Amino acid sequence: MTIEPIQKFPDNAIEFKDGVPVSLLFDDVYFSKQGGWEESQFVFLEGNEIQRKWEENENSPFRIGELGFGSGLNAFVTLDTWKLSANPTSVEFVSLEGYPLAINILQSLNESYPNKNLWFEKLTLSYESAIQSWKKNPTDNLWTYQWDHPNNQNPFTLHVFFGDIKNCLPNFPEIHAWYLDGFSPGKNPDMWSFESLTLMREKSVPKTSFATFSSAGFVRRNLTELGFVVEKKKGFGRKREMISGFLK
Ligand SMILES: C[S@@+](CC[C@H](N)C(=O)[O-])C[C@H]1O[C@@H](n2cnc3c(N)ncnc32)[C@H](O)[C@@H]1O
Repeated sequence: MTIEPIQKFPDNAIEFKDGVPVSLLFDDVYFSKQGGWEESQFVFLEGNEIQRKWEENENSPFRIGELGFGSGLNAFVTLDTWKLSANPTSVEFVSLEGYPLAINILQSLNESYPNKNLWFEKLTLSYESAIQSWKKNPTDNLWTYQWDHPNNQNPFTLHVFFGDIKNCLPNFPEIHAWYLDGFSPGKNPDMWSFESLTLMREKSVPKTSFATFSSAGFVRRNLTELGFVVEKKKGFGRKREMISGFLK
């Protein structure tokens, strides 16, 4: 099922609940109101053992693939961890987004995390200009931004493909760790369908890991059928379960 946003919510309408953006189109939150930053660290970074893999220099560049860029929170949490590394590896964070958020919504993230330099002006303008180019010319659908580290020459590069998951994933490079972060599977079935996860599998190599906040039965079954080892774990905070795993 493809949800068509155009008629119903022309501007990817968002409302705020307790300071967290909520999509009216998908009727779901972009991140948890109980410690979004910590949840991202717990589910995606720890779920994929990102720091250990960076320290052991498993792959360089180390490529993280994300399904759903949203507010950019997961990318910022990953970037922050990289910035704090003494001898960072080169990282490519590759994400996709079909319904980019407006600037004022993105910048509200700065108010949630005032001590972090998240959507600074140059970054926001660069993202906004890429969205405008994509709207004029749908084939011009890749935004890239790079951070350098003071300790070495290895950069952190963020890439976001704009468009539907089915059109974006075929453009991804080979990925070493996945952050599966669509809205909840019941509300956003396109992001978790067998077809989407098959495209994700095609960009994975043996030992490529994944992690997600969801432990929905059909997601576990799809991943297992595609050759991933799927493990259930205790979820973040009050959440009972999450899953992570790797490709055999
Ligand atoms: C839970 S939010 C992602 C949160 C994000 N990772 C963050 O750190 O803020 C899910 C995202 O997936 C996007 N999305 C949902 N369905 C999509 C589709 N079919 N194709 C592309 N993007 C989609 C939504 O627009 C939304 O930004």
